[in-house]
Amino acid sequence: MEYFNHYKIRNYPIFVAFNHQLMVNSYFSSKITREKKEFRLHQHAMSVWMTGLSCAGKTTLGLALEKELFDRGFFIQLLDGDDVRMGLNRDLTFSTEGRTENIRRIAEVNALYNYSGIITINCFISPTHVIRNMARSIIGPDRFVEVFVKAPLSLCEERDVKGFYRKARQGLIKDFTGIDSPFEEPEHPDLILETTTETVEQTMQRMIAYILPLIQFKPA
Ligand code: ADX
Repeated sequence: MEYFNHYKIRNYPIFVAFNHQLMVNSYFSSKITREKKEFRLHQHAMSVWMTGLSCAGKTTLGLALEKELFDRGFFIQLLDGDDVRMGLNRDLTFSTEGRTENIRRIAEVNALYNYSGIITINCFISPTHVIRNMARSIIGPDRFVEVFVKAPLSLCEERDVKGFYRKARQGLIKDFTGIDSPFEEPEHPDLILETTTETVEQTMQRMIAYILPLIQFKPA
C-alpha cells in the first residue's frame, strides 16, 4: 500500500505502479531464489543510494566504496548517472519527467541486481523527495540505504569538473540542478557525508562502519 501512496503523490501515473507489480511477478518467479544466490555469494544484497549535487563527490566516494568492498570479498555493481545516461537512459532529458523516468529505470535495475544477490552502489543526483521515495519503494525500504553526499552549491560550482555549472550560468544548459532546477536535501538520510570537512579516507571509514553489518550474509 505504501508503494501506491508514493506514486499518488504529485500524480505519478498509477499504471506505472501496476506495471511494476506485473514485472515483479514475472522476474520474481525464478526458481532460484534471492536467498540461494545470496548464499552462493555469501552476502546480503543492498542498494547504497548516493544523492547530492553534481560535483558533490558521489562518484569519487562510490568508486572508493566499490574498491573497498570488492577488496573485502563482496560482489558489487556501481551505477553512475553519467554512464547510465549514455546507454540505457540516453533517450531521457533533465526535465522532471526525464529525471523521474531515469530514476525509475535505475531502481528497477537495482531490484534485478538485488534479486541476483548483488550489492549496488548508485551515484545519481536524484534531486527530489518524490524521486528518492519512488526508488526506495521499487527497491524495497529494507534494501535501500540513503546516503546524502553533502557539499554547498558554491563549492560544487567551484569544482565544476565538467564545466557544466559555468555553461548553466551562461544559459547554455537548461534545467541544471542547483541553478535552475531544484535540489531538495534529504530529511532523514541514513548517512550524511560532508565532503567539505572530511577526507575521502575518513568518509570511507564511516561508510564502511555503517554498511558492513547490513551486507554481511544472514543465514535464513
Ligand atoms: S538525475 O537528476 O536524473 O538523478 P543524473 O545523476 O542521472 O541526474 O545525471 C547527473 C549528471 O548529468 C551530472 O553529474 C552532470 O554530469 C550531467 N548533467 C548534464 N545536464 C545536467 C543537468 N541539466 N542537470 C544535472 N546534471 C546534468
